[in-house]
Amino acid sequence: MINIDQWTITDAVLAAQQGSSSPRLQQVMASLVRHLHDFAREVQLTEDEWFEGIRFLTRAGHITDDKRQEFILLSDVLGLSTLVTAQNNAKPAGCTEATVFGPFFVEGAPRVELGADIANGAKGTPCVVRGQVRALDGTPVAGAVIDVWQSDEEGFYDVQQPDQPGHRARAQLASGEDGRFHFRSILAHCYPIPHDGPVGDLLSALGRHPWRPAHLHFMIQAPGFERLITHVFRSGDAYLESDAVFGVRSTLIADWRRDEPGESADEPGYSLTYDFVLNPTQQAPR
Ligand code: BEZ
Ligand code: FE
Repeated sequence: MINIDQWTITDAVLAAQQGSSSPRLQQVMASLVRHLHDFAREVQLTEDEWFEGIRFLTRAGHITDDKRQEFILLSDVLGLSTLVTAQNNAKPAGCTEATVFGPFFVEGAPRVELGADIANGAKGTPCVVRGQVRALDGTPVAGAVIDVWQSDEEGFYDVQQPDQPGHRARAQLASGEDGRFHFRSILAHCYPIPHDGPVGDLLSALGRHPWRPAHLHFMIQAPGFERLITHVFRSGDAYLESDAVFGVRSTLIADWRRDEPGESADEPGYSLTYDFVLNPTQQAPR
């Protein structure tokens, strides 16, 4: 096809993609091309603006490595991560809701016993976290594998501090026979997402802040149940209504209780109790 212009280019690209051996790839790419071309026509994208976009993506690529994922961050601030999470995690009422994964999960965090202190030197006020993993009918889920990770009081995850190697404020544990779990860690604080790169520049240009409300991350897996990836958010946080990545759900907001020494704790600190209800995996129809 020759003499293609801004109106015929879309059909030309769609026709060129028709030989794909993957129907799904063909469907996804056809839709992407249609929306991308419509976008460029709608805003009358200039050549300078097109090149600015290319420079932005190039910077995102250059800053990305095995510890820093600028493209996930971009998806997060554009609301795409929350959209994809929401449309793939519809659950029956009563199940714990899912939210975004974020870029700071690490495979192979240390496995600890119930009651362990997972802070491992991370800075913060001591905090005990307790809860139970249950099925929808209330049955305790024993042996659920629980990954937990959080930032320190300065707003940094261990993986953001390469000068201090080691796992801090992250661990994996398993629920007991009664589905219950508990561990010691530190109080969750609000923190800004990494904003020293192109995504941070985009946020400032759009008049947006980079802050996330205080939260703990959980990933919970047990046979017969869907994997749950979620957070528990701290009530009263100033950023609950304006999370930079749009991840807050009201059912995931909980109170962190202040414990005085001698009451239920040896030292002043906080405690959080939060239970998780897992969604059973779909049985294939017989
Ligand atoms: C997080 O909660 O760890 C996170 C989520 C999205 C972007 C950056 C950080
Ligand atoms: Fe986080």
